[in-house]
Amino acid sequence: MIKKDISNRADVELLVNTFYDRIRQNEKIGFYFNETISDWDSHLEKLTDFWDTQLLNARNFKGNPRTAHIKVDNRFNHEITTKEFGEWLNLWFKTVNELFKGEVAQTAKDRARKMSTHLFMNMYRYRKVDA
Ligand code: HEM
Repeated sequence: MIKKDISNRADVELLVNTFYDRIRQNEKIGFYFNETISDWDSHLEKLTDFWDTQLLNARNFKGNPRTAHIKVDNRFNHEITTKEFGEWLNLWFKTVNELFKGEVAQTAKDRARKMSTHLFMNMYRYRKVDA
């Protein structure tokens, strides 16, 4: 199969759906998602809006990833570490690479890397530690 670049919403949808199918089955981090998300259809729609906005400038994402992840971190007693974020990222890179190739696909990987650092540091900032 000749790989193309991510160029429309259907591509983003394919990427997001394939990735979260894998996330849900992942032994190490799947339960964070499975125990939190009850309505997967609307979650996948929201995540498609998020990546559509990040990659193709759709500007239709309504959400707050920083607040959402602080809540997730609280819910799981601050046990999420860089290891879990690493697992997320490796799965994201693998999925992007398997499905697409090109400039936008590269941006999808770069943005995720950058965003994961921000999200993790933000979670850490809100933990009740003496720092
Ligand atoms: C181990 C790492 C991660 C875990 C365990 C995790 C977990 C979750 C969970 C459980 C939710 C649903 C929250 C809810 O509906 O209450 C969520 C939402 C979300 N996550 Fe993550 N996430 C991780 C990493 C990332 C990364 C690296 C990104 C982006 C590159 C990301 C982007 C998002 C977005 C956009 C939402 C929707 C936020 C909203 O509802 O406004 N996540 N995450």
